[in-house]
Amino acid sequence: MAVVGLDMGNFSSYIGVARAGGVEVIANEYSDRLTPTYVTFDKSTRSIGQASKAMEVTNAKNTINNFKRLIGRRFQDSHVQQEKEFNAYAIVEGPNSSVNIEVDYLNERKRFTPEQIAGIMFTKLRQITDTELKTKAVDCVIGVPCYFTDAERRAMLDAAQIAGWNCLRLMNETTAVALSYGIYKADLPEQTEKPRLVAFVDMGYTSLQASIVAFNKGKLKMVATSFDPSLGGRDFDNLIMDVMRDDFQKRYKIDSYSTVKAKLRLRAECEKAKKLMSANVQPIPIGLECFIDDKDVN
Ligand SMILES: Nc1ncnc2c1ncn2[C@@H]1O[C@H](COP(=O)(O)OP(=O)(O)O)[C@@H](O)[C@H]1O
Ligand SMILES: [Mg+2]
Repeated sequence: MAVVGLDMGNFSSYIGVARAGGVEVIANEYSDRLTPTYVTFDKSTRSIGQASKAMEVTNAKNTINNFKRLIGRRFQDSHVQQEKEFNAYAIVEGPNSSVNIEVDYLNERKRFTPEQIAGIMFTKLRQITDTELKTKAVDCVIGVPCYFTDAERRAMLDAAQIAGWNCLRLMNETTAVALSYGIYKADLPEQTEKPRLVAFVDMGYTSLQASIVAFNKGKLKMVATSFDPSLGGRDFDNLIMDVMRDDFQKRYKIDSYSTVKAKLRLRAECEKAKKLMSANVQPIPIGLECFIDDKDVN
């Protein structure tokens, strides 16, 4: 039975399976290899992945993303307090200073732990895998940030178990990246030769990891790893948002952060523009129709 590799990021999730002599990242029901790490609760259902992300603005208070940062932490943790400000959903203190997420679900106010939310996300990843492999996948290896503590690692295992995964091991994301590079390289130095040193940089949604790895044929050695747990893609979004907010304030006399909905709409637009800016040198327009007070802004 094949072992599946899972990368449940703060923003996006990926599933890798060994196939045809390599590792293939499989697609979800939208033919997309990226599944947003998003869970939405509703009056009658819960939606996960793409379907949830689509409701980010319309059902902001019950759409949970960015929860990997909450896993295995105490409520008083400075990271948790920081996320309370950032996220549109309610993060409250649970029993024994645990973290709880409060949502409206099935016409009731309900509380979930971040591990339960992650468990729901892992269930989705199982469904995608089962559909694609046409069999029941159980064994997996899960990537975790190299800076994850024991408590965070245990919480990740709990979440996987909720979804019925049998996690054979957790692997540091830095190691996983190095492995996937090494597997395909045919020209690495022999074990008796001087190793090739390669630096890897992985910037996610909220954190940055970097490593230096020494490669020989059939062998890799982590030489050094470093990280910033509080620097990621969203910090770029925030900077662009602040600039747009100032501009719209001056020209349209509106405050883009006055409502959760407006702020989320602006965030989505700025994130899209940021990606376009990565690939283009010409100026990229940012525009929102009927933004605040029915004003079209750009
Ligand atoms: N082409 C791009 N240019 C700039 N930023 C990008 C691009 N593609 C994705 N991003 C940003 O990368 C971040 C997500 O990275 P990812 O590795 O998927 O996160 P995580 O591992 O935390 O789930 C987001 O902030 C997203 O906006
Ligand atoms: Mg990632």
